[in-house]
Amino acid sequence: MAKEMRTIGVLTSGGDAPGMNAAIRAVVRKAIANGVKVKGIKKGYQGLLNEEIVDLERWSVADIIQRGGTILGTARCTEFKTEEGQEKGAEICRKYGIDGLVVIGGDGSYRGAQALSRKGINTVGIPGTIDLDITCTEYTIGFDTAINTAMDAIDKVRDTSSSHERCSIIEVMGRNAGYIALWCGVANGAEDILLPEKYDFNEQTIINNIINNRKRGKTHHIIINAEGIGHSTSMARRIEAATGIETRATILGYMQRGGNPTCKDRFYASIMGAYAADVLCSGKTNRVVGYKHGEFQDFDIEEALAMKKSISEYQYEISKALSM
Ligand code: ADP
Ligand code: F6P
Repeated sequence: MAKEMRTIGVLTSGGDAPGMNAAIRAVVRKAIANGVKVKGIKKGYQGLLNEEIVDLERWSVADIIQRGGTILGTARCTEFKTEEGQEKGAEICRKYGIDGLVVIGGDGSYRGAQALSRKGINTVGIPGTIDLDITCTEYTIGFDTAINTAMDAIDKVRDTSSSHERCSIIEVMGRNAGYIALWCGVANGAEDILLPEKYDFNEQTIINNIINNRKRGKTHHIIINAEGIGHSTSMARRIEAATGIETRATILGYMQRGGNPTCKDRFYASIMGAYAADVLCSGKTNRVVGYKHGEFQDFDIEEALAMKKSISEYQYEISKALSM
């Protein structure tokens, strides 16, 4: 029989992402509309272990939908990766009467949710990461804002790069995933796009591209490099030495993770938050919300974590064809 939900908790974990606040707001308001109380857990699993737990009412989440970051705060917590940490977390949930928990974060955070579920605390995950690297979903909270922030910044670098007839390497976020680099590479009309999933570390190909483009009369050369490849500054030095063309590196960094969420991030995060509250209130556990084939759906966490995600070959080929 499904476990009755009287009180649920909500936390954000891992890297923050614009739109997390919209998701928190939706979880709180939908759960309350379903007759369920909500507690906010600050600073992810670390805050759970430290018992940083507050009551949330409808009004507690007013005036946050437009704000970047997360009002609950977030953290990475190594203690929660241990059996003892997870047992303590489940015990604390029981102590505070938390029957179920919504975890907003990436796949690392889902593993924590999975562990709690095994210990009798119902859980549901919501994909919150700017990296888009969660397999069971075509959308993750914050990606849309991050790519638009990066795209605007890259346009600006391009203006000055063209004026000075320079080559520019612009590094975007994505430690293990090249989605931000791929989308911005195409959207900004970059001449080279370097993705961790595809890069062969052959700088000579890039150098040849730059020399050939210059011969054809191009005044700039934009290279979008993903954080997972990194080394943009030393790459710039080597490219300048090999081509004789002034080359500069710009690392966009954390600015990509902040800022007011776009309309898409506010809307999708709101739907996902409400959906997650409904999933939990219906007594389900060990689920994760996703957006696939045009619909919001929920998946078993085990299955979601076992799925493999990779850059679309077709999109990658197009990105290369368009940059010629
Ligand atoms: P993300 O959720 O964005 O992938 P992390 O991988 O850093 O970010 O995970 C966030 C947090 O989730 C970790 O700091 C840890 O507290 C928890 N976590 C990660 N992996 C596990 C695991 N295997 N078991 C339990 N908890 C985990
Ligand atoms: O949130 C995802 C992400 O921004 C990755 O692109 C990046 O590699 C990582 O988080 C950096 O996280 P932090 O420096 O906060 O540990």
